[in-house]
Amino acid sequence: MKIIRAKDYYDMSRKAANIISAQVILKPDCVLGLATGGTPVGTYKQLVDWYNKGDVDFSEVTTVNLDEYRGLPKEHPESYWSFMHRNLFDLVNVRPEAINLPDGTNMDAKAECARYDAVIKSVGGIDLQLLGIGHDGHIGFNEPCDVFELGTHCVDLKPETIEANKRFFDGNEELVPKQAYTMGIKTIMQARKVLMVANGVGKAEIIKKAFFGPVTPEIPASILQMHPDFILVGDEEALSLI
Ligand code: PGA
Repeated sequence: MKIIRAKDYYDMSRKAANIISAQVILKPDCVLGLATGGTPVGTYKQLVDWYNKGDVDFSEVTTVNLDEYRGLPKEHPESYWSFMHRNLFDLVNVRPEAINLPDGTNMDAKAECARYDAVIKSVGGIDLQLLGIGHDGHIGFNEPCDVFELGTHCVDLKPETIEANKRFFDGNEELVPKQAYTMGIKTIMQARKVLMVANGVGKAEIIKKAFFGPVTPEIPASILQMHPDFILVGDEEALSLI
């Protein structure tokens, strides 16, 4: 595990974007595993800036996203499909046919999870997986539970996650979807490189627990302690307890 200290959110975003663009420069046809949430927004903004300057080219890149709400049409402004198009895909030259997310509108969970696992396999697995971390230690929508879930699966969101995400749904938790499809822990662990971004004092406690405590499915991110190429880029506040 490598920990990179950044001064603030802007610095964290630049450092993470540097690692992603290095990946794309070294292997132009790489597979990027991408994440949603507030934390990576600055990273995507920096990548878009460098793309506009001609410093990074996504024309051969394939993307696979971590997760998607179940039951939300992709055109809904809070679907992860919309988030990714708004923050990255519409702003760079990634090919539409090279973009992959779970299909939240396929209500047949078993079929959708099998389809998404087959997609990840067919592109040869993930070269670099970007992750945020939830306050409860979730990665993607892998919520705390008794066992690590391996492949893509359908999850019931925890009340804390619904609470944390209601800010994106007019503050109304009734509007937050209650289930999601998410890549599993095995798929994330099989990514050749994993890059986590974390900022703010609110993440300090979970960063300490996840990476300096026992590996347990009750803190899903803790498994990353065992990943051979895991990089955590955090700002001063998020890293303040370690
Ligand atoms: P955040 O979410 O980046 O909005 O804090 C992180 C996560 O839930 O993975």
